Amino acid sequence: MPKKVLLQLDCDPQPSTFDAIVAVDAGADVLLRHGGVTVENVVSLVHGGMFTRGGVDLASTAIFVGGSDVAAAEAVAAKVRATFFGPVRLGVLIDPSGANTTAAAAVVAVGRHVLLAGGTEAPCRAVVLGATGPVGQRVVRLLAGKGARVAVVSRSYGRAEAVIRHLVSTRGFHAGMLQAVEHHGRGSTESAFARELAAADVIVSAGAAGAALLDAAGRQVAVKARVLIDLNAVPPAGIEGVAAGDKARAVGPAVVYGPLGVGGTKMKIHKAAIGRIFSATDAFLDAEDLLAIGEGLEAGR
Ligand SMILES: NC(=O)c1ccc[n+]([C@@H]2O[C@H](COP(=O)([O-])OP(=O)(O)OC[C@H]3O[C@@H](n4cnc5c(N)ncnc54)[C@H](OP(=O)(O)O)[C@@H]3O)[C@@H](O)[C@H]2O)c1
Repeated sequence: MPKKVLLQLDCDPQPSTFDAIVAVDAGADVLLRHGGVTVENVVSLVHGGMFTRGGVDLASTAIFVGGSDVAAAEAVAAKVRATFFGPVRLGVLIDPSGANTTAAAAVVAVGRHVLLAGGTEAPCRAVVLGATGPVGQRVVRLLAGKGARVAVVSRSYGRAEAVIRHLVSTRGFHAGMLQAVEHHGRGSTESAFARELAAADVIVSAGAAGAALLDAAGRQVAVKARVLIDLNAVPPAGIEGVAAGDKARAVGPAVVYGPLGVGGTKMKIHKAAIGRIFSATDAFLDAEDLLAIGEGLEAGR
């Protein structure tokens, strides 16, 4: 069996050390770390991986696409995919800024407490704060993909609408299941935001590091909420009263998660995904695939 070689293709000038260490811990024997990767220079890097090993040995080479510019990384990932042909392809994991693994882990946590698929019941209602960022957009996408009705919250109604338009056009979601809502962090007791809070089964806060998005008054309004998740690890908390290490901590009829409470699941998904790309050359793992991996881990698969 040849050594497992991971091509770490990162759009930032310096490839992420976090992603490198997780890859090693997940079983990569050799890491080839490339920074400053662009759509223009990625093809020769991919060819180097495609044409060195043949047959079953090809599966021992895989690709990780990362970087802090999520749009740039997604464009690179699309170029990587377009470079493959026939059976000459490598397993690929896409996780720029940790957005896919983090969003998948958050939705796995939600699924522990709330029936997302709905069945014959009314769809689950979710509020996603900071929904225009890389993580928030993917939380919206994954929740909506499960059938939830999602309030897409931003400080700008226009930015929230743009996220919805993008998801409707690229994912085929029904526009009626996504609602743009403007909110500025404080004073949440009367408004369209308050109406969404009052109806929400699930609240996920994916705002920027250190941005406080839901205060205690807002939490009081969210009378039906059964799961509240704050992904922000930098004080103050994104959701007032949620501690970083909270993991299914009961607060009245609800449970709350902080960023570290979700982070363990994120790490497990990331490592399992690295394992997956070394076992299937046709794996091209995006947010939905990572959610499926996370759900599989939950189910003991
Ligand atoms: N636990 C983990 O393992 C993990 C991994 C990755 C990321 N994270 C955390 O997940 C969160 C989301 O990450 P991200 O990269 O998607 O975040 P981001 O792009 O930095 O910010 C998300 C959204 O927050 C809003 N925002 C920005 N500054 C704000 C401010 N001063 N006040 C209020 N809202 C503000 C913006 O939306 P609008 O301008 O539209 O309002 C922005 O689109 C971050 O807190 C990050 O640290 C956690």
